[in-house]
Amino acid sequence: MDQPSATEPDPEGSDDGAGGDAGGDRSVIRTRGLTKRYRGGQLAVDGLDLTVPAGSVFGFLGPNGSGKTTTIRMLMGLIEPTSGTARVLGRPMPRASRDVLPQVGALIEGPALYGFLSGRDNLVRYDAADPTADPRTRTTRVAAALDRVGLAAAAGKKAKAYSLGMKQRLGLAAALLQPRSLLVLDEPTNGLDPQGMREIRSLVRELASDGTTVFLSSHLLDEIEQVCTHAGVMARGRLITQGSVADLAAGARGRLVVTTPDTAETARVLKEQGVGDVVIAEDRVTSDPPDGELSDINAALVTAGVRVRGFAVERASLEDAFVALTGEGFDVAG
Ligand SMILES: Nc1ncnc2c1ncn2[C@@H]1O[C@H](COP(=O)(O)OP(=O)(O)O)[C@@H](O)[C@H]1O
Ligand SMILES: [Mg+2]
Repeated sequence: MDQPSATEPDPEGSDDGAGGDAGGDRSVIRTRGLTKRYRGGQLAVDGLDLTVPAGSVFGFLGPNGSGKTTTIRMLMGLIEPTSGTARVLGRPMPRASRDVLPQVGALIEGPALYGFLSGRDNLVRYDAADPTADPRTRTTRVAAALDRVGLAAAAGKKAKAYSLGMKQRLGLAAALLQPRSLLVLDEPTNGLDPQGMREIRSLVRELASDGTTVFLSSHLLDEIEQVCTHAGVMARGRLITQGSVADLAAGARGRLVVTTPDTAETARVLKEQGVGDVVIAEDRVTSDPPDGELSDINAALVTAGVRVRGFAVERASLEDAFVALTGEGFDVAG
């Protein structure tokens, strides 16, 4: 890996003073007021202050069209921001692209592949294009990457015969040819079947346990909850919140769930007890958690003769947090 010069002057470094993170900054990605307005006038990304801690698996969550890919393309130096700054591995982008990008494995909106070449030969070409890659160890490196993503058996097939999931995994293999400080994956499970999604997720977990910071975008809430330690939530070009997944979910209140055959009576008692947002769905009655004692609610139900099969406060999910923050549901279809 080439040595980034520690003494290189950094004209965009002035934000370090204001941000107060000079030197000891442990963030791998950090943006300040990052904004992109496309030529047509579309404001795709609006004043993003994003902080991705080192060693995290950071889920960049948002419905389709919320600005995730545009942000990632700015982080990778592929497009210029309209205003604001982005630092990746502590260096300003896109100015330090030449030093930063060799340390970053990226998979953005479907990998560019040669359909007429085998999966293996596609990786050989990728590897050969990297001036820091030793040609003597190329075969081993390519085989290891193919193995890692589960494509060893299909390595000799032409890439155009690959399924979408296999293409996605081949793109991931290309990003894994070298050890990386950071992996940036734009919707890596998009278009995959459930089995393919599971494989990518376990791969991401495995990479993260090696200490690689992973930044992955997704429009799937449960995916972020399953894989990520941290998340940032995008809606209409703006970052609504960011933090650890546990903290984000804790910020949203859970739901009281009563499972009972006597739903109407349960709903009446809950309302009588001053509990808000009572909803009946089949054999369950859910509501906001009560302000007072949970046991008082349970006692009131029993006194009213309600047959209670289940009584619990369910933990808030990231989805609850999203709904609470945006006041709208999560638009999966985009
Ligand atoms: N090249 C482009 N020119 C103009 N508008 C674009 C371009 N790329 C994306 N957009 C618009 O910017 C917004 C954000 O898009 P995008 O970053 O692709 O969101 P996401 O990745 O979250 O789906 C969308 O409204 C999209 O239509
Ligand atoms: Mg996208």
